Amino acid sequence: MWNASGEGFRDVMRHFPTGVTVLTTTGPAGPHGMTANAFMSVSLHPPTVLAAVHRDTVTHGILQSVTGFTVNILAADQTELALLFARSDPEEDPFLQVPWRPSPVTGNPVLTQSLAVLDCSLRQRVTVADHTLVIGTATDARIQRPEADPMVFSRRTFQTVTKAPSPG
Ligand SMILES: Cc1cc2nc3c(=O)[nH]c(=O)nc-3n(C[C@H](O)[C@H](O)[C@H](O)COP(=O)(O)O)c2cc1C
Repeated sequence: MWNASGEGFRDVMRHFPTGVTVLTTTGPAGPHGMTANAFMSVSLHPPTVLAAVHRDTVTHGILQSVTGFTVNILAADQTELALLFARSDPEEDPFLQVPWRPSPVTGNPVLTQSLAVLDCSLRQRVTVADHTLVIGTATDARIQRPEADPMVFSRRTFQTVTKAPSPG
């Protein structure tokens, strides 16, 4: 049914728009961040979220030994930052290029210009295929830029939201 590269599956999933986050952690080398759109809310009581992290990422290694992670939800005007945190270039430290501060709750990096932030304690890791689902309980939630439009990722491009036509 699927070709070797999973192209048909990818084609379909490109039509499912998501928000965009930067997941931040603190590893042995200091602050780390990775752009991720495989992120969702799971439950309200307790407030629970899930992110899918590829096993080949640096973030994946860090998440094996930390007790928490921070989710920075991006605004539509942060496309450069989204690309910066998707590069994983050991020669380039993104935290020297963007404003951030340590979270008062976890110490993980909070990107100053992100739209909203969730600090999470890591509740469970579940290995599925070549990803690990990291499930976290949100311990703190802040909206930093209430006026900003969220970033949307759809059909391989960064977009923002427009209102759907109202019925009738
Ligand atoms: C829009 C976008 C969304 C992404 N979403 C994910 C994701 O949900 N999970 C994942 O493992 N990688 C995702 N990536 C790829 C990682 O950001 C990329 O592999 C990054 O270099 C990993 O960083 P690290 O190795 O420094 O942790 C995404 C990339 C982009 C551009």
